[in-house]
Amino acid sequence: MSIQKETLMETKIKNEIRSIKVLDFSVLVWFVTVVLGQMIFAYYILFLYGKAGLQGNFEHWNAVTPHGHLANDVLGNVIFGMHVMLAAIITIGGPLQIIPNVRNWLPTFHRISGRVYVTAAFVISMAGFYLTWVRGSVGGIEGAIFISINGLIIMTCAFFAIRYALAKKFDIHYRWALRLFLAMSGVYFFRVGMMFWLAIHQAPVGFDPETFRGPFLVVLYMVTYVLPLAFLELYFRAKRSQKKYPKWAYSLFLFVLTGGVAVGIFSATFGMWLPRL
Ligand code: HEM
Repeated sequence: MSIQKETLMETKIKNEIRSIKVLDFSVLVWFVTVVLGQMIFAYYILFLYGKAGLQGNFEHWNAVTPHGHLANDVLGNVIFGMHVMLAAIITIGGPLQIIPNVRNWLPTFHRISGRVYVTAAFVISMAGFYLTWVRGSVGGIEGAIFISINGLIIMTCAFFAIRYALAKKFDIHYRWALRLFLAMSGVYFFRVGMMFWLAIHQAPVGFDPETFRGPFLVVLYMVTYVLPLAFLELYFRAKRSQKKYPKWAYSLFLFVLTGGVAVGIFSATFGMWLPRL
């Protein structure tokens, strides 16, 4: 091989390695940003619902939703309490499940917490169905349908994640675990997306804040779990691709997306979560 060809080959390989590193870095930045917001969300859940519950101040459960604590509905109150406590547990535990170092260094922890996470996925969804269809939720029928689809997707991902783990097909298991993490984060992305929208418009555009209904919310309900799952499939493709351009394009896209997510988290933290504690 001529020296010129060798240099060209070396440059090509270096560029490919660089594109892989940038892709990994963009995923890391996205992940850290999302998880930081999730920890604030979990803190909000624990302090709003957990603290009020421990103090016996159940009326405070209605600070955000009118259906938190209802007089004479013991079963519904227990289900709501379980739903929000599981919400805190899965919000903290989810990221731990997919961090590779935790998986590699603490395999027993990963196996046990994985089973807890998957069980929690089913229970929180079933509790969510009860709250939506029996107790009534904000957001009308369209909100009820879309959040229920989120619940069905969560249970599907949980089923396949555990199925492939038990079958020891770890590559496929990992993919389903990532899908499960994103589907479980749909409710969180919904809040971040809504607060991003409010931060941009400085007003409730496209929905009625009283009834919590409107075209914007219909779109948001869907995109908060459909888009992350679609983006994940694109990520798998970019990562698999032999070419460097899909990796560069995806990294750029993820950096921009992370910027938007950061704005939404900031706005949710200071406009929604912390003021309610
Ligand atoms: C798996 C991730 C989920 C998390 C982290 C989560 C979190 C929460 C939180 C924190 C609340 C209290 C309201 C607030 O303070 O914002 C809540 C309420 C509620 N959740 Fe979930 N949830 C999840 C999944 C679901 C699913 C799958 C459904 C439906 C099938 C559902 C239905 C509800 C309903 C109906 C309420 C009562 C709020 C209302 O009145 O509309 N949730 N959830």
